[in-house]
Amino acid sequence: MKKVALITGITGQDGSYLTEFLLKKKYQVHGLVRRVALEDENHRLWRLRPVLNKITLHPASLESYASLVKIIQKIKPNEVYHLGAQSYVDYSFKDEFSTLNTNINGTHYILSALKEFSPNSKFYFAGSSEMFGKVKEIPQNEKTPFYPRSPYGVAKVYAHWITINYREAYDIFACNGILFNHESPVRGETFVTRKIVVALCRIKNGLQKKLYLGNLDAKRDWGHAKDYVEAMWKMLQLKSPNDFVISTGKQYTVKYFVNLVLNELKIKYYWKGKNLNTACFVKGSNQKIVSIDKNYFRPLEVDTLLGNSSKARKILKWKPKYNVKQLVKEMVSEELYMLSNDKKIR
Ligand code: NAP
Ligand code: GDD
Repeated sequence: MKKVALITGITGQDGSYLTEFLLKKKYQVHGLVRRVALEDENHRLWRLRPVLNKITLHPASLESYASLVKIIQKIKPNEVYHLGAQSYVDYSFKDEFSTLNTNINGTHYILSALKEFSPNSKFYFAGSSEMFGKVKEIPQNEKTPFYPRSPYGVAKVYAHWITINYREAYDIFACNGILFNHESPVRGETFVTRKIVVALCRIKNGLQKKLYLGNLDAKRDWGHAKDYVEAMWKMLQLKSPNDFVISTGKQYTVKYFVNLVLNELKIKYYWKGKNLNTACFVKGSNQKIVSIDKNYFRPLEVDTLLGNSSKARKILKWKPKYNVKQLVKEMVSEELYMLSNDKKIR
């Protein structure tokens, strides 16, 4: 009998990598999608294009308990990967209430539906390093106190604790992954790494003149989504549920990430100016290719994130295969391929 997995957020970056991973492991994969995704297939389902005929998609909404119950009752999944969320931190300041509604209630509804209708399903919750926010220690591990700095972070803290609450109160096999930033060639274009790669590749090909960014000094622990979905699966294969930090243990600034992409594209550059006047120029032509736009600064910033994933390395026998340079290399090469073929890679 094939194992049955249900993925919320299947159309997103992690959902698409996890789908491919589980199909290779011979799972029967079901995904929860918003009706709009089915209606606008070309735009919303592009990441799933290579596997669309191997999976089953169910229209539902994280805001509707009834729609979630219907699917869970019908397919009785062995494993539920709850990845669906409003995942853009900056947007959560602009639309707090819907972010809180989707990210808090959506998680609570799924747990409640599992408790009532499929209590033997194993549950994975997509927690975030954003919960550490204004960090209380460096590096951060599973015991580091949370100090969220955005409505998104606050919602993830609630969902983290309700997951533990269901585990302890109702014996649901529920795990929290506390994942640090992870990226890939199919990362959404609003997130800083993909935004940088897309813009600099376009600049290299003469299709764009300039890239505008916000805080260049923010530090992140960036891994590859492909490595991180494997950790999600490993958590649900344990004998008993547990919570894990997943991270590379290396930290770089946004500016350093820009430099890595410029190096990969063989663009010779130099930086000049301070604070809002910081800019990056091409050596020789002196073309200004990166400038600061204060609109990309957030009302509150998470200045530094660095994970300690030794618990996962020991218990899950997990470690990342990609370092940041390999990540950049892959993102740039896929982006150049997409640009020259005028299409999305999948
Ligand atoms: P993503 O690419 O933005 O994907 C988010 C997914 O959630 C999409 O499939 C989206 O569907 C779905 N979604 C959003 N709002 C929804 C709603 N109201 N109802 C149903 N589905 C909804 O995010 P990701 O990078 O794959 O991240 C996956 C999960 O991990 C998220 O929960 C995120 O918060 C968390 N996380 C991510 C990272 C990271 O660095 N990537 C780190 C830590 C935690 P549509 O296609 O219909 O919009
Ligand atoms: N998006 C964006 N755009 N970020 C910028 C920009 C810009 O133009 N300029 C500077 N930054 C800085 C942000 O201020 C932030 O400090 C950092 O780059 C990373 O921003 P994002 O790529 O948007 O990611 P994030 O760290 O806020 O959130 C991501 O990682 C979390 C895990 O820590 C998302 O994937 C979340 O869903 C995830 O939970």
